[in-house]
Amino acid sequence: MTHCIAIHSYKGGTGKTTIAANAAALLVQMGKKVAILDLDVYAPSLHNYFKTNPKKWINDFLDNNADIHESIIDTTPLLFPQGQEQTNSKGRLYTGFSNPSRDAIFKFEMGNGTDYWKKQFRKLVFLREQIITKLDADYIIIDTSPGIRHWSINALSIADKLILTMKMDDLDIEGTKKLLFEIYTTFVRFGAISYILLNRVSGYCIPCNTIQSNIVENQDHKKVLEELHAATGANSLSPLPCYCDIQFSPREFLTVINNPNHPFSLRLKNIINEMTNTT
Ligand SMILES: Nc1ncnc2c1ncn2[C@@H]1O[C@H](COP(=O)(O)OP(=O)(O)OP(=O)(O)O)[C@@H](O)[C@H]1O
Ligand SMILES: [Mg+2]
Repeated sequence: MTHCIAIHSYKGGTGKTTIAANAAALLVQMGKKVAILDLDVYAPSLHNYFKTNPKKWINDFLDNNADIHESIIDTTPLLFPQGQEQTNSKGRLYTGFSNPSRDAIFKFEMGNGTDYWKKQFRKLVFLREQIITKLDADYIIIDTSPGIRHWSINALSIADKLILTMKMDDLDIEGTKKLLFEIYTTFVRFGAISYILLNRVSGYCIPCNTIQSNIVENQDHKKVLEELHAATGANSLSPLPCYCDIQFSPREFLTVINNPNHPFSLRLKNIINEMTNTT
């Protein structure tokens, strides 16, 4: 069975892309076939992560200008630059990049009307089906746009696991609650599982080279997660601390590949286990 996981949030900058890209890389290292899709169509960023300029984009698939093999490309070699080791050679990473050009983004903005959205949704369902049948993916990981936007909803609707990343601030907590009530209940009713992932929680910067076991005991985090669970039924995942070296890095990079023993990498591995063990 293919797991389809969407990473979403109420506010921007909560770590969606970081978590999506690193989770995908971790699964590849575990020998899984993973497709990662940049459905943050208004502000694409995965091409930057992989420092690549693809010939075809997801946009071309949606416009019937490219088939699955042209628009979702094998990016496994890009994960392992400068002789980094692929620990399990069975793992593959396929990536669907979103076109960051002004014209491509305007085209999404201009699309309107129920028929347009129905057509886009059907194309996305077809994309998912093609990834499963033609690429034989074990996991599909979807990076989305923050908030309530047509494309976020489209992306969520093809996923069976929904991760809401959030920071510990009042606005984000309220917004996340609103999303869970107003949007996620429908998906959950149709069988999706929702999770809350507190990211960039403070107080763990020093030292950042050890995995700290007491983080789940933080009473503030626990209280917020318990309240959200009681109010909305959403499950909680173990929080991820804010690591200064990741936060202030001049460029985005895959911590799980460059530094597999970094506490971020170890914690993300635990989170993937928590999620895949949920029935
Ligand atoms: N656990 C973490 N510790 C430190 N820095 C982090 C962590 N997670 C993410 N970051 C940093 O936070 C910034 C925002 O992350 P990212 O771009 O992944 O967020 P996003 O939710 O995808 O943003 P957007 O909504 O704009 O697409 C990046 O600089 C990233 O390196
Ligand atoms: Mg992002």
